[in-house]
Amino acid sequence: MHRHPDLDPTAPQEDPVEYSLRPQRLQEYIGQAKVKARLEIALQAAQQRGEVLDHVLLFGPPGLGKTTLAHVLANEMGASCKVIQAPALEKKGDLAAILTNLEAGEFLFIDEIHRLSAPIEEMLYSAMEDRKLDILIGQGPSAQTLKVDLRPFTLVGATTRAGLLSKPLHDRFGMVHRLEFYTRADLTIIAERSAHLLAVPLADEGAEAIARRSRGTPRICNRLLRRCRDYAQVKGDGTITAESAEACLHLHEVDDLGLDGLDRAYLQALCHKHRGGPVGLRTLAAALGEDEGALEDLVEPYLMQVGFLDRTPQGRKATEAAYLYLGVAPQGKPKSLFS
Ligand SMILES: Nc1ncnc2c1ncn2[C@@H]1O[C@H](COP(=O)(O)OP(=O)(O)O)[C@@H](O)[C@H]1O
Ligand SMILES: [Mg+2]
Repeated sequence: MHRHPDLDPTAPQEDPVEYSLRPQRLQEYIGQAKVKARLEIALQAAQQRGEVLDHVLLFGPPGLGKTTLAHVLANEMGASCKVIQAPALEKKGDLAAILTNLEAGEFLFIDEIHRLSAPIEEMLYSAMEDRKLDILIGQGPSAQTLKVDLRPFTLVGATTRAGLLSKPLHDRFGMVHRLEFYTRADLTIIAERSAHLLAVPLADEGAEAIARRSRGTPRICNRLLRRCRDYAQVKGDGTITAESAEACLHLHEVDDLGLDGLDRAYLQALCHKHRGGPVGLRTLAAALGEDEGALEDLVEPYLMQVGFLDRTPQGRKATEAAYLYLGVAPQGKPKSLFS
């Protein structure tokens, strides 16, 4: 079972159109009011003191704006930002080269930071804490440690789940911010902003129709907007109306809540095969032929957000709303009583 490509916020990462839609400054960054308020103060305080911003950890499901926010923070500090994917850091020397080459005040964004190898993660500790690197030179008894001072820098780490990070690494971030799913109102604004940048006419109800199906996720919102733009151009007069947006998304089998085949397959496995749970994630993943991590990152957060899924210590459980959505009675209740 595959995720509908437009609802998969993990790929492709660096699409040029998506890139062009990225907010550059905090003021353009829509929603996430609490996170923004905290960051605004931290930015101003750092600027007033002439210091670098504290290291920041951002976590939240894919597509909510972690990478965007890392760049926004660098822009606000008038600094450039180097980007690295944690799995690409294989050798200690790779990290040492990056860190020693950072300019004063520069930002280093490490994406998927929970995937650092243990030796590299340990190397980061002293870099983050004391701006020092211990570099081992030579081998055997003649080996020596060289202490290298680093220029002041800000590390921004991003991860889909804070729980994946080791405690020592987590504790070295001065700020930890959790990004939340966006409200429909925020997603409507994001759709309108992106439509404006893409110069595509978008009716108010068209924006709302897209926002409703965006799973609380700006990246999905922008993807759906582009599908709807194609549809309106080919099937209509180019303006995205509520009707054309709905027809387009229906064609793509995205339902009114923005759920797709994989979400429905998950709920069906949970409700039918496992009688509503509690059932372990591994069992569900095996039933669906999916990776556990993918379900945990891409399927479950939104199903919990819409109130279809509970995660209990005993395992995953379907809610009554999930049964209502599937149009069947919960286990043990006859349908006539239920409906
Ligand atoms: N707060 C926001 N306001 C407007 N657009 C946003 C916002 N956050 C994200 N986006 C849009 O969503 C896309 C995906 O965001 P990104 O930062 O790549 O997510 P993540 O790194 O969390 O997976 C961006 O290209 C951007 O266009
Ligand atoms: Mg990202």
